[in-house]
Amino acid sequence: MRQAGRYLPEYRALRDRHSLLELCHTPELAAEVTLQPVRRLAVDAAIIFADILLPFEPLGLGLSFEKGEGPVIAKPIRNAAAVAALPPVDPATQLGYVLDTVRAVKAALPAAVSLIGFAGAPFTLASYAIEGGASRDFARTKQFMYNQPGPWHDLLSRLAELVGSFLAAQAGAGAAALQLFDSWVGCLSPADYREYVQRHSRRALELAGASGAPVIHFGTNTAGFLADFAAAGGEVVGVDWRVPLDVAWAAVGSDRAIQGNLDPVALFAPRAELERRVRDVLTAAAGRAGHIFNLGHGVLPTTPVAALQAVVEQVHRGLK
Ligand code: CP3
Repeated sequence: MRQAGRYLPEYRALRDRHSLLELCHTPELAAEVTLQPVRRLAVDAAIIFADILLPFEPLGLGLSFEKGEGPVIAKPIRNAAAVAALPPVDPATQLGYVLDTVRAVKAALPAAVSLIGFAGAPFTLASYAIEGGASRDFARTKQFMYNQPGPWHDLLSRLAELVGSFLAAQAGAGAAALQLFDSWVGCLSPADYREYVQRHSRRALELAGASGAPVIHFGTNTAGFLADFAAAGGEVVGVDWRVPLDVAWAAVGSDRAIQGNLDPVALFAPRAELERRVRDVLTAAAGRAGHIFNLGHGVLPTTPVAALQAVVEQVHRGLK
């Protein structure tokens, strides 16, 4: 999950001097930011500091992050010609700075702390590429999907090859596990997920898994099609707080591991209430085939650091 960022004063200090893209492009700085939450929170895993949208640079789409606006894509994909014009991307060289960050973090990280590499899933990346930025209803994305199914599948299959090989390259550089982020896939109906997206996620997950590293398949709002989402692949399925863990396990299968699923806003609750909610997650996961305790989505910028530290300590104590 996103665990670095603006809630940490040491991150804000670096951001005062560097843009987000500068931090990503500079392996020494990106490695430092990756380590910040590990030092502060004593979490069991670090997630590499990068962004799912970085492949848009070698794809020639133009990427920037604007204050208060989030990501902005200068040349959004709106037609078949734009899909056909996408250049091939070699992640090993064109995103080589991310692999350098993986190597730098790996060298600095205590052996007991795992390193997670990541990439965006084909659907979530396509949604940014088509919308040109964040979206509430994903209207342009769905219009593209319904009206131009050929170019749609062409776009998603290109993205699947790119992110699948990018993930495998991160494992090759030293990441112990990989995470595929399909953050906005929950905007789709179950039938649309199966028809327009599932095969492309399956391909990306298959390429990533061929590296031998375990893969976490993350989504939010997926309760309505969780069995189909899980069927696309991944050793671990990420779920958010909108689905109770026992319901999630029934859909995913009791032989699979789940990551989740504390509501990030629970970190703003009174301490006793937060503790109760953490205990509920641990209780629901007790005795299961595998569980990675996590938030259901990223840490919000105003989150109190002390609440995060308390959660990590409680999870390490377990149900005792
Ligand atoms: O621990 C970490 O933070 C790891 C690094 C990381 C970032 N982005 C850096 C970042 C990770 C894992 C991501 C993934 C990412 N990026 C996702 C998938 C995960 C999720 O949260 O759903 C998505 C959808 C993005 C796209 C993205 N990047 C958005 C929508 C934004 C703006 C959001 C905001 O809060 O302004 C970003 C910017 C971004 N990427 C930040 C960070 C830490 C925000 C901090 C900053 O602007 O300095």
